[in-house]
Amino acid sequence: MNDFIFQNTTRVYFGKNQLSHLPEELSRWGSRVLLVYGGGSIKKTGLYTRVMAVLKPAGIQVWELPGVEPNPRHTTVNRGAALCREENIQALLAVGGGSCIDCAKAIAAAACCGGDVWDLVEGKAPVSQALAVIAMPTLASTGSEMDKSCVISNLETAEKKGLSSELLRPRAAFLDPTNTLTVGPFQTACGGFDIMTHFLELNYFTKAQKYPMLQGVIESVLHTVAQDLPVVLAQPDNYAARADLLWAASWALNSFCGSGQRQAASCHSLEHELSARYDLTHGLGLAILFPRWMEYLLARDKTVAGDFARFGTAVLDCPPAADPEAGAKAAIEALKKFLYEALGLKSSLSACGIDGSCFEEMARAACHGGVIDGYRPLTVQDAEAIYRMCL
Ligand code: NZQ
Ligand code: ZN
Repeated sequence: MNDFIFQNTTRVYFGKNQLSHLPEELSRWGSRVLLVYGGGSIKKTGLYTRVMAVLKPAGIQVWELPGVEPNPRHTTVNRGAALCREENIQALLAVGGGSCIDCAKAIAAAACCGGDVWDLVEGKAPVSQALAVIAMPTLASTGSEMDKSCVISNLETAEKKGLSSELLRPRAAFLDPTNTLTVGPFQTACGGFDIMTHFLELNYFTKAQKYPMLQGVIESVLHTVAQDLPVVLAQPDNYAARADLLWAASWALNSFCGSGQRQAASCHSLEHELSARYDLTHGLGLAILFPRWMEYLLARDKTVAGDFARFGTAVLDCPPAADPEAGAKAAIEALKKFLYEALGLKSSLSACGIDGSCFEEMARAACHGGVIDGYRPLTVQDAEAIYRMCL
């Protein structure tokens, strides 16, 4: 196994009866808190009221930044950072999906560093300090609640980029599966496949040496997620399955499964260009790209066949095949069936109203002037070919 340092400092409160711990967590950082949330789901579900009901009696003063967009904008981050500076905010509480948590992380950095958050994203200024972020995910998806990164969109330049620093890792995360029971079928499916791709393209389809212990853990989690998703689509109130998904989401990016492994996430690099330009839902973009990426790699490089075939049998319950290539093809077909039939997601970019007019430009942007150094390297030509396969 490669050398690595593992530390994840997020304190996790998991389960239905943890909200009473929120004031004590926030009080570690101060009593002036900015509540960051999205387009209103937390008000509809009553979570906003429940959160306020524990904060007010504890003497915590709350300012609010509502309306964080899916694919959060850098302008919203700048607005939140200005509010933090004006009101001497001491901590951020993000209640919502990954977009809210990402927005809060970026605000936490921009509030301390001053200036435009885009300068931090572009590396023109370092993240030298950040306010504390407490995360309360209401959607099982990105794993932002336990990781050190956030992804921010700039509509002016049609870019979507990550910002990463240990200072941005949430100090605590409140993971209550009941907060995810109201997530509709589309977001449940998108979030669920996002979880799967984090494992798949960062740690499972890996160019590094494989370690049976990690591969076994990942296969077990992936199999569970693949089993649970159709269950929650049929039974949205199924607590046990929602709990599996929520904890799986956090584990996908909390660094444990990445121990000693480091590689680019190929489909994520391709997807971020789609959501930057077309405001596509992240998990949907991944669902359209991923099987095509597998097909493209298999057609040019048979050395991927064994890994793909094993994924099919271990995760999607494909029967063992006569040879690796047949197994890989069966796995790709099974994945398509899972995504486009069992989960009901759209299967092409044209079905999402996207044509090929920007593919060349997107491919260049995804490769950042070089190659995407993932499981197998992708050049600009490869990236463009994969986009075309998705039409
Ligand atoms: O805005 P509200 O009204 O809250 O509604 C949201 C939103 O419309 C809704 N929702 C959330 N919880 C709900 C709910 N609806 C009903 N009941 C609930 N309990 O779901 C919609 C989508 O929310 P969003 O936060 O955008 O989804 P997600 O968690 O999938 O986050 C996606 C963002 O995270 C980034 C993506 O690129 C995208 O911008 N990512 C962040 C990563 C990270 N921090 O490391 C890694 C990921 O790969 C990803 O790139
Ligand atoms: Zn993702």
